[in-house]
Amino acid sequence: MIAIACDHAALETKEAVKSFLADLGVEYCDFGTYDRKSCDYPVYAAKAANAVASGECDKGILICGTGIGMSLAANKVKGIRCAACSEPFSAKMSRAHNNANMLAIGARVIGIELAKMIISEFLNTPFEGDRHQRRVDMIIKLENGEPLE
Ligand code: RB5
Repeated sequence: MIAIACDHAALETKEAVKSFLADLGVEYCDFGTYDRKSCDYPVYAAKAANAVASGECDKGILICGTGIGMSLAANKVKGIRCAACSEPFSAKMSRAHNNANMLAIGARVIGIELAKMIISEFLNTPFEGDRHQRRVDMIIKLENGEPLE
């Protein structure tokens, strides 16, 4: 189950992403926003991020104007590794090396076809583990206020 959320800047893009996920047969849960009324992106980033952090959803996709604000907010939720990506290579590596569990994209930055390519990499690339697990564990230590050395 994929958590998906957007702010007012990205409503149309979110609808297009939902259609794309449906075409792929990927289940999603839409945490809002649901209209074009100006809203505060951290609220919706948090709803989706909390669903991923709790295990209710496996991964999440956040969409705001740039992808930056929602990624910053999501990364404040314990257990979330959210990557803001504007091209497929970074999305692929965010999974392979960083075990990202959320993706953020910018509706004012990229078009829907590029967004689909980015999302495909995010959904289909496995984490490579090994030395990358050690580094992700260090990120988790930082999150817990533990020293790295
Ligand atoms: C909303 O105007 C805009 O600030 C928001 O969508 C996002 O780009 C923030 O990072």
